[in-house]
Amino acid sequence: MKLKKISISYEEYEEGEKLASSDTALIDEASKALSGSYAPYSEFHVGAALLLDDGRVVRGSNQENAAYPSGLCAERVALFHASSQYPDQAVVSLAIIGKAENFVTTDPITPCGACRQVIAETEKKQGSEIRVIMKGERGVTRIVEGIDSLLPMVFNEDKLKKSNK
Ligand code: THU
Repeated sequence: MKLKKISISYEEYEEGEKLASSDTALIDEASKALSGSYAPYSEFHVGAALLLDDGRVVRGSNQENAAYPSGLCAERVALFHASSQYPDQAVVSLAIIGKAENFVTTDPITPCGACRQVIAETEKKQGSEIRVIMKGERGVTRIVEGIDSLLPMVFNEDKLKKSNK
């Protein structure tokens, strides 16, 4: 047996610390997306914004349902919208922000496991990494360059191909 380790890296910015202007602009877009959130059950609103290769911005917000599993996270709303409407445009970066009705979010909002899987698929499809910018209402901002840092040992299309045959 060998004990192996995977290390991930991310950028962390203190509240108020200056980010790249393109990151700040995308966070602003994600904040605007919050107004479209439909979250009567969790009372937790999430906004996402994607920057596409051609400079276009696609927004998404979480959409809940009385049949809970039928709802969808902000990130997947945005990613599926972009893939269906602009299939030839690579996603350069994704900003995520969250706002709860009953408390102030102080931790960066990180994508759930299912959204990480969809981000991984998007990277694979387009052949390039996505910069993921995560923020709460207050506190630090964290940024990863590519889904590898959020989803190590990913399951992707490579695993569907038999290399031993
Ligand atoms: N949610 C998102 O939209 N994105 C995330 O990254 C985390 C969770 C949504 C799903 C649900 O509508 C609510 O937040 C509470 O989980």
